[in-house]
Amino acid sequence: MKILTCGAYIPNKVLTNLDLEKIVDTSDKWIKERTGIEERRIEEEKSTASMALEALENALSKVDNPKNILENTLGIIVATSTPDYLFPSTACLVQGKLIEKYNLKNPPQVCFDILAACSGFIYAIYNAYNLLKHSEKKYFIVIGSEKYSKIINWKDRTTCILFGDAAGCTILEKGDQDNFLSFDIGSDGRYKNLLYVPCVDDQDKYLKMKGNEVFKIAIRSLSSSILKVLKKANKKPEDISYVIPHQANIRILKLVAERTKIPLEKFFINIERLGNTSAASIPVAMNEAIEKNLIKRDDLILLTAFGGGFTWGSILLKF
Ligand code: COA
Repeated sequence: MKILTCGAYIPNKVLTNLDLEKIVDTSDKWIKERTGIEERRIEEEKSTASMALEALENALSKVDNPKNILENTLGIIVATSTPDYLFPSTACLVQGKLIEKYNLKNPPQVCFDILAACSGFIYAIYNAYNLLKHSEKKYFIVIGSEKYSKIINWKDRTTCILFGDAAGCTILEKGDQDNFLSFDIGSDGRYKNLLYVPCVDDQDKYLKMKGNEVFKIAIRSLSSSILKVLKKANKKPEDISYVIPHQANIRILKLVAERTKIPLEKFFINIERLGNTSAASIPVAMNEAIEKNLIKRDDLILLTAFGGGFTWGSILLKF
């Protein structure tokens, strides 16, 4: 099994730190120093499913005979905390559009969303990998698509500075060789009050977070998860070509780099331009690293994420 191709959709509208200075009591200097973020993107028209479809179309534009791939695809998982509907799932909405557009006779069948907040993409790959392993089909589509702009309280300076919208996609391909070397997936449901988005009637529906407490647990969880996947696969930090981390805060990544003894230069970072795009951040970053020729076939790469739940996970693979 390997990653066949990646794609991304990045909204056009840029929201800079200077723009945020006009709506909350903050400063460009504070945001840059505390988070590494300079700007983020906001989607004004497309839904989460439409962004997911755009990212998939971008991935399909890089392969020969996309229709043949779609006819031989077991399913679609969309990792998202910001779906358009509770149901149908975002994955079903994407599948419906694909059937129409490509006139599919054998469309992907196993279509569902995964809600694991910012770790959603890692959870989705883990599920897709295991489902595909036991199937006759050859491909699986995994998408992370997020529109956090709709669950952010734009009056709350402690959260609105962090997040942005985007979608990213990968297509897994089953073959003779398995490039996925090890997985580490975890969760701890005791910390609800530190990071959550209510969907009960008597509460507002915005994201709430105790940032500095999340910060400390994120560093511990990411570092230990990275070390676990390395140990499971009998690999050392120096074997890694690139870490593609969830982009939450540059200071988190610096401290994780120190703890794991993986040089920060090996962490692919685009947080300054996109902020935290939750489940979309890893596939978007991976797509960008590939387009910039930083990752080549057979390079050892490590994906790692932490998010609400709490959830976390890492994957070590040969690209
Ligand atoms: N602009 C200016 N000042 C701000 C601010 C903003 N946007 N947000 C908070 N502050 C203030 C606070 O009110 C506080 O002021 P005080 O000292 O007078 O009380 C001060 O800055 C420090 O706040 P604190 O929350 O301790 O800052 P921090 O260094 O922890 O940085 C985060 C805040 C949110 C950037 C940081 O904690 C973080 O990134 N946490 C992880 C969040 C995350 O990644 N969540 C998603 C997980 S996937």
